[in-house]
Amino acid sequence: MTKKSSYFVTGTDTGVGKTLVTAALLHAFAKTGLRVTGMKPIAAGAELIDGELWNEDVAMLAAASNTNLPRALTTTYLLREPAAPHIAAQLEHVSLDMQQLLDCYQQIVQQSDSVIVEGVGGFCVPINDDVDTADLAVHLGLDVVMVVGLRLGCINHALLTAEAIKARGLNLVGWVANQIDVNMSHQQANLQALEQRLSAPLIGVVPWMAAVSAQVAADKIDISRIKK
Ligand SMILES: Nc1ncnc2c1ncn2[C@@H]1O[C@H](COP(=O)(O)OP(=O)(O)O)[C@@H](O)[C@H]1O
Ligand SMILES: [Mg+2]
Repeated sequence: MTKKSSYFVTGTDTGVGKTLVTAALLHAFAKTGLRVTGMKPIAAGAELIDGELWNEDVAMLAAASNTNLPRALTTTYLLREPAAPHIAAQLEHVSLDMQQLLDCYQQIVQQSDSVIVEGVGGFCVPINDDVDTADLAVHLGLDVVMVVGLRLGCINHALLTAEAIKARGLNLVGWVANQIDVNMSHQQANLQALEQRLSAPLIGVVPWMAAVSAQVAADKIDISRIKK
């Protein structure tokens, strides 16, 4: 099932820049001439605008994709409540089904050269009683890119996430440091500590941006450094 230039993007937590980095990777691969599609398999937190559900992650990934596939494919489950996915799904009496997610991915793969799948929250977020987002990455058969949101506590979160990725038999093929906290002290020392301890390559440092831009972030990421 694995596709060349396709990755699962996880992060040290929710709100660390997964969506930004996923969009940046889409731009970076699009520049190499590929048909790129961002997939946000489950999104929780949507507003009804003009009769259509709208979610920020879904919109940002659609804007960075160049294939224009139906939203129902790229986001299999778009849930109203901004909560953990299994909770948001319960509220709507929806059951989140792994096979359904895999079927959508397969259809996307057929129409794309590169699929970048954004995880939901951190790496071990439950999807239902039986599986979590780590299982989703396993079922998709994708190598993993980890986004580290640079803030106090990120070293521990990054190392735990890297361990969990390995424990599931997946390959961490690169990580991105994202400067989400403009006031974080000792950023360089944190980066250095992570570089020393993570065996995967650091593929980019995305600076804090007053006006967030996936294009600018793309220029800070070197996709050629992703481990083959
Ligand atoms: N480098 C950055 N500079 C400034 N703001 C950022 C940066 N990275 C992320 N953000 C902001 O932080 C929030 C969370 O980022 P997002 O990519 O949505 O994270 P996640 O997908 O992990 O939840 C968003 O409002 C985003 O615009
Ligand atoms: Mg996101």
